[in-house]
This record gives sequence, structure tokens and C-alpha cells, in this order.
Amino acid sequence: MTAQILDGKAAAQALCDQLQTRIAKLKENCRPRLAVVLVGDDEASHIYVRNKQKKAASVGIDCQVIELADGIGENALLSIIDELNRDSHTHGIIVQLPLPRHLDELKIISAISPDKDVDGFTPYNTGLMCCNHPQGFISATPLGVLKLLETTQVDLRGKHAVVIGRSNIVGKPMARLLLNRDCTVTITHSHSVNLPAITRQADILVSACGQPKMITSEWIKEGAIVLDVGITRFEGNICGDVDFDDVKNKASFITPVPGGVGPMTIACLLSNTLEAFLRAPECECSAHHLHHSHHCCRH
Ligand code: GUN
Repeated sequence: MTAQILDGKAAAQALCDQLQTRIAKLKENCRPRLAVVLVGDDEASHIYVRNKQKKAASVGIDCQVIELADGIGENALLSIIDELNRDSHTHGIIVQLPLPRHLDELKIISAISPDKDVDGFTPYNTGLMCCNHPQGFISATPLGVLKLLETTQVDLRGKHAVVIGRSNIVGKPMARLLLNRDCTVTITHSHSVNLPAITRQADILVSACGQPKMITSEWIKEGAIVLDVGITRFEGNICGDVDFDDVKNKASFITPVPGGVGPMTIACLLSNTLEAFLRAPECECSAHHLHHSHHCCRH
């Protein structure tokens, strides 16, 4: 079998085109704004943030990047988040991870207002997602994977989905989303024993472990759907967790790296940002016209 390629770049562009059309219809001077808090000098984080900023601009979302020194104290960072929470012009807030080691990630993330938590990382939104509640924000990467999976039009009910990785930002929410779609879900991680024996049972395999080309065709069931969240620099190239050239001969669908899950992550983040804007009780122009219409700029 030769796998069909799940073209994340094209799917993400289609989603961004829709966002751009919706944003273009908003009243002039009335734009969603995303604040990105970037602490320290992590090279990969700087690249990710630049990509988010560029894509945001292309769909008409204002993206304010707040770069902070590595040594910033916890209280100083918390007060910046608090200010953004109270700023009615800011609709989405993300804190780029990882944070420098002296900062307590969970404490910092928990300080973001759930209404502006467009990464869906706060315990509140995580909880809503776990309950399959429609109101919360769902983390962009797992949401992007799910959207790509849905393009296959395969019925997910009862399928065995195996997730490699148990991080709070990918593995755990991914597993929950798949469970919400009635998959039978196995979560594996670096301590799992005989991982290939588990992955060979997968109808759907989502990998987010950051081990370049770890997954070869021997790890795969014939006809499996393989979604690769890994992005690692390896021998001068950007590589996923999956040995693409080997696995593509055995899978039914497969995502490439780059051009698979990555672009979908950004598109889903921007989609969440527009959603946060539309849900906000006020924005600049509606505030001026509060007595006439609460939703003057939402059409
Ligand atoms: N670090 C790696 N992926 C992400 C992401 O989706 N959002 C944030 N804030 N940080 C990340």
C-alpha cells in the first residue's frame, strides 16, 4: 500500500483563507489581537513565534510579541499576564513554552484568563475539553491533528488510537480528543515497555516524542493512519518521529514533516483567537456603540 499524504500546508491555508475572509468583514479598526509572551532565548521558540506572527498578520490578526529576558522574576511575569488579562483590546494570550527553568510553568499558564487562553493550556480549558464541553479552547496542535484526521473521512468510532508522548500540550489532550471521538485510546511514553508491539496494534498512530525517524514500517499495522507531531533538527534537516519514506509504503494516510501537523497548529491557534474575539464582551468599536448594539463589529 502507498499512503495518501495528508497535506497540512494546504489544509492550513484553506482554514486561514476562511479566517481572513471572516476578519475582512469586521468593522474597520476592529481586529482580533493576540499577545504572545516569549521569555528567554530558546532558538526554536523564537522561530515558532515568528511563524505565528507572520501567519497572524496574513489573516488580519494583530499579533503583539512581548519579549522578556530570561531572568525575569515570577511576579513580574504574572503582573504582565494580569495586565493583558485586563486589556480589552487583547483577545488571546499565549505564553510560549518551554519557559526558563526557574519559572513554574503551570503557575504561569494558570494565570491566563480562560476566556483569552487560546492555547487551551489552562487547567480550566483542559477540564472543559476532558468533559467534551463545547465551550472551552482546545490546544492547537491536537486540534490540528484531529482536523487532518477528519479529512480522511475515516469513521473514528472504535478505532484503536495509540498516542506516543504524554505531555500536557500534545499527548494528553490528543488522547482525550480521540477518546471524545469514541476511539479506544492507548497512551504510551518513554517508560512504555515494548513500544513497537503496542504501535503495531494502532489503527491510528499519533507520535509526539521528538525522536527523529524512530518509527519504522515494522512498528506499523498495514493500512494504519500515521500522524507525526515530531519536529527535530537531524543531520541538517527537519525530521519527524516517523521514518516517512519507509512508513509511507505501509500506512493508508501519513503526514509529512515539514508540511503536516505544523502549519495546522498555527491555523488552529489563529482560529481560536478569532473565536476569543467573537466571544469577548466588548471591543473597541462595540464599546463606543454599547447602547446601540453589543455586537456591532461581529458581522
Ligand atoms: N511550545 C511548543 N508548542 C507550543 C504551543 O502550541 N504553544 C505554546 N504556547 N508553546 C508551545
